[in-house]
Amino acid sequence: MDLQLTDKVFIVTGGSKGIGEGITRSLHAEGASVMIATRSEGAVTEHLLKELRGEGGNVHVIYGDLDTSEQCKHVVAKTVEHFGRIDGLVNNAGVNDGAGLVSGPEAFRRSIRVNLFHYYDLVHYALPWLKKSKGSVVNVSSKVALTGQGGTSGYAAAKGAQLALTREWAAELLPHSIRVNAVLPAEVMTPLYRKWLDSTFENPMEKEREISAKIPLEKRMTTKSEMAAMVVFLLSGKSSHTTGQFLFVDGGYVHLDRSLT
Ligand SMILES: NC(=O)c1ccc[n+]([C@@H]2O[C@H](COP(=O)([O-])OP(=O)(O)OC[C@H]3O[C@@H](n4cnc5c(N)ncnc54)[C@H](O)[C@@H]3O)[C@@H](O)[C@H]2O)c1
Repeated sequence: MDLQLTDKVFIVTGGSKGIGEGITRSLHAEGASVMIATRSEGAVTEHLLKELRGEGGNVHVIYGDLDTSEQCKHVVAKTVEHFGRIDGLVNNAGVNDGAGLVSGPEAFRRSIRVNLFHYYDLVHYALPWLKKSKGSVVNVSSKVALTGQGGTSGYAAAKGAQLALTREWAAELLPHSIRVNAVLPAEVMTPLYRKWLDSTFENPMEKEREISAKIPLEKRMTTKSEMAAMVVFLLSGKSSHTTGQFLFVDGGYVHLDRSLT
C-alpha cells in the first residue's frame, strides 16, 4: 500500500529510541522526512541518523529536553526553518517515572510536566502549520491510563490526560480537517521498558517471561515496528476519516477475556 507520505514532514518526539525509533524508521521507509526531537544525545541517535541518511533519508534531530515550552516552540520553528512545512506530529516522548502516592506533590508535578505539557505545547506551536497541511496528530498514551499500574500517579494522570486531549483536540480541529488520534501500547520491549524491568524486579528475565505469557496474542510483546505501523497509518491519508480514536496495539492485552491468558 502506498501511504503517499513521500516528502511529507513529521515531528517525532523521542524519535531515536524505542517506539519512537520504530516510528522514525517506518516514516523513512515511506519516503517521509522526519524531525526527531529528543534529549537522547549520543551514539544511539547519531548512529540512527547516519544509517538513515546513508539510505538517502531526510532525517534530522533537535536535541533538548521538551519539558519547557521554549524548547517546544524551538522544535517547531527549527522544523519549519529546515523543511518549510509540517504534515504531522507524533507526541511520543515520555517516561514512566514512578511518582506514586508516597512520592509527594513535587514528584507528581514534575511527572505531569515531563509527560504531559509538551504534548500540548507542541500541538499549540505547530497548529498554524498543521492547519495549512490539514495535518495529523498522534498521541502515544499507555494502557496505564485505563488499567492503572500502582506507584505511578503522575504518569497515569498524564497518560489519561493525553486521551482526554485526543478527543478534545479532535473536536476542536474538525473545522480544519486536522485529525487527532491516540495509540496505546501495553508491553513493548524498549530501553525504557528494559530499565523499568531491571530496576524494579529481582529477577527481570523471569518477570519478562511472566508478563509475555499473559499477552493473549502469541504470548509475546508487541514490537516497535507493529506500534509504528499503526502510527504511520494514522499519519497518512489512508486513515482520512479516522479521528478522536484510541487504538490499542497490544495483542489483546487490555480487552480480551482473562481466561485466555
Ligand atoms: N514501552 C512500552 O511498553 C510502553 C508502554 C506504554 C506506553 N509507552 C509509551 O510509549 C512512549 C515511548 O516509550 P518507549 O518505551 O519507547 O521509551 P524510551 O525511553 O525507550 O524512548 C523514549 C525516548 O524519548 C526521549 N524522551 C523522553 N522524555 C523526553 C523529554 N521530556 N524531552 C526529550 N526527549 C524525551 C527519551 O530520551 C528516549 O530517547 C512513551 O510515551 C511511553 O509512555 C511505552
